[in-house]
Amino acid sequence: MNTPNFIIEEMIEQAKISSNQNYPSSMGEDFFRESVARWNKVRYGVNLNPENEVTHIIGGKEGVANIARVFINPGDLVLCPNPGYPVYANGGTKLCDGEPYLMPLKKENNFLPDLEDIDAEILKKAKLMYLNYPNNPTGAVTPIDFLKKVIDYAEDYNFIIIYDNPYSEFTFEDYIAPSILQISNEHVELNSASKMFNMTGFRCGWVAGNADIIKGLRKVKSQIDSGGPIFIQKAVAKGLDLYTSQEKPDVIRKNVEIYETRRNTLVKGLNKLGWKTDLPKATFYIWTQIPEKFSEMNCMDFVKTLIDVGVIVTPGTGFGEYGEGYVRFALTQPIERIIEALERINKLLN
Ligand SMILES: Cc1ncc(COP(=O)(O)O)c(C=O)c1O
Repeated sequence: MNTPNFIIEEMIEQAKISSNQNYPSSMGEDFFRESVARWNKVRYGVNLNPENEVTHIIGGKEGVANIARVFINPGDLVLCPNPGYPVYANGGTKLCDGEPYLMPLKKENNFLPDLEDIDAEILKKAKLMYLNYPNNPTGAVTPIDFLKKVIDYAEDYNFIIIYDNPYSEFTFEDYIAPSILQISNEHVELNSASKMFNMTGFRCGWVAGNADIIKGLRKVKSQIDSGGPIFIQKAVAKGLDLYTSQEKPDVIRKNVEIYETRRNTLVKGLNKLGWKTDLPKATFYIWTQIPEKFSEMNCMDFVKTLIDVGVIVTPGTGFGEYGEGYVRFALTQPIERIIEALERINKLLN
């Protein structure tokens, strides 16, 4: 969907100002970091010092990858959810010659990693853990108690949690996604304007939390990039400033409601066709097991079969080996296309 008009208009106005055309600062402009800190205060009740506890990233992806450069030396272990956003294990861990340790996200555990199942020796060796709720690709959310438990583990075994929270506002009905910073300021949280304001193409995000971790990230990034355009930071700050409480401002609420209608249409439609699928509480993804009738197939072959009837979904293994047996729908098409897709799927199933 389109980026809201007020954001585009702000960006155009700001781009005309000559000082906004200069090199930005790699760590983000003062006004941007102040706006992120204020947002964290009204949205989560978390106090952050914009001087040293907030930094700009050129979208979440860049942050996920570069934060590993700060800490990961060859052979270091990184705990990565699997299925998971591929950049944790690849751009983050492997490109730093680290070793991903895959934490399976299984349906029977509500797609949360089973911490008890990880050997203590592995936990001792781990330097970082990536964690992401609301979750891509499963659409799962986390109870706050689980976050507390992970933080306790991190303290006991001395690893850093990189909490990736780009779907924090993509939640349905009355569910409100928590921030890890509400529990501890020992770790960091990433977020971005991509999903919040339909700004995937503008590349603007932030990291908030522990000052030492942020100091390291700033040091690495100061030698890699020169930040994001000031006029984009201005427009994102204008969006963040709409928040006056943890409630979503109208522009985001209306956007998410559209995705909610799409979610309901697709999930109800699939179940009606006999394809058992759960309703996620958050994200614009529907993560579902291959239907019974095709359960002998691997997910890649099933995806090809769906393509033959004109529907494209992502194979579960695109998010790692523990994604086998699943596919992911993205609700990024209008309702008419979703209904058309259901009709095509019907041809295959029935
Ligand atoms: C879990 C997760 N993290 C990070 C990102 C990166 O988003 P961006 O770089 O657009 O902020 C994505 C994008 O799909 C994602 O799903």
